Amino acid sequence: MRKIILDVDTGSDDAVAIMLAALHADIDLLACTTVWGNLDIELTTANTLRVLDHVGHRGVPVYRGSAGPFAPIAHHPRPGTDRSRGKIHAEKLAIPDSARTHETTPAVEWLVDFLRNTTDRVTLVPVGPLSNIASALAADPTIINAVEEVVIMGGGHAIGNVTPSAEANIWHDPVAADVVFQAGFERLTIMPLDATHQAYVSLSQAEELESTGRPAAKAAASFIRDRIAGYTETQPMDTQATAPVHDALCIAYLVDPTVVELVHCHAAVEVVGSLTYGRTVFDLRGRGLDAPNAHVAMHADAAKFFGFLMDTLGT
Ligand code: BDR
Ligand code: CA
Repeated sequence: MRKIILDVDTGSDDAVAIMLAALHADIDLLACTTVWGNLDIELTTANTLRVLDHVGHRGVPVYRGSAGPFAPIAHHPRPGTDRSRGKIHAEKLAIPDSARTHETTPAVEWLVDFLRNTTDRVTLVPVGPLSNIASALAADPTIINAVEEVVIMGGGHAIGNVTPSAEANIWHDPVAADVVFQAGFERLTIMPLDATHQAYVSLSQAEELESTGRPAAKAAASFIRDRIAGYTETQPMDTQATAPVHDALCIAYLVDPTVVELVHCHAAVEVVGSLTYGRTVFDLRGRGLDAPNAHVAMHADAAKFFGFLMDTLGT
């Protein structure tokens, strides 16, 4: 069973990822660490607790993490350009409040301590800005030794969502992403928008989830409907009445790697460009001199992905 730590900025698609990780028999969800991003840290943390409780996983600890970027910059280029803000991620997910609270140890402290001391090989799955992971690496770069794979949702080659050039998770804290990409993890896997935008879920598929009657599937259906409404309003997809459920693709990949096609290449982050600030640069054609450091998903199988959602949440 794969032991994972899920680092989330919950978030409607993070919520689906959390439910998949909590419920799938092949995954042992050790903890969730929370990070700012889609919403402020108080909101992402409360949403994370809500989701875990909703699927009966009150035993999974939640550690509250960074409230802002690892590397704040005085003037963030193009501030306020995320026109989707508030449209795709409800501040309070429409499920009951949690009766518990987050752990008292801060997420970065817990991550460093846990990874220093564990005898297990762990998979890190960050699906928000990389602020917690970069801070943990800054505190102790040797924590990479406990990690068998890092699976990141972030970046884009042909697609940007927060600017024409950049994806939100990377754009929120590009220096943090740069630190993580260069940290020397044994295996770095990246799910950029190029893959997640091939794994759209439709309104009729949300209805299929709903019709199973299972609490997790019904919650996922409602989050996906909200996403479809938000995307249709702010950045309509090529196929009508659909939306990507980005973060969930990382969990599908952990269980069935054939859900995506990976390219082994060098991945870097633009941390200085004004128009391209926060862009990921994937050397897909081997034009640079740097050796490959990442496996980057450039294609996803939408039918397989939806089958995974139905099997995991709907039965
Ligand atoms: C990513 O940014 C967040 O809005 C989503 O939760 C996802 O992790 C997509 O760009
Ligand atoms: Ca996210």
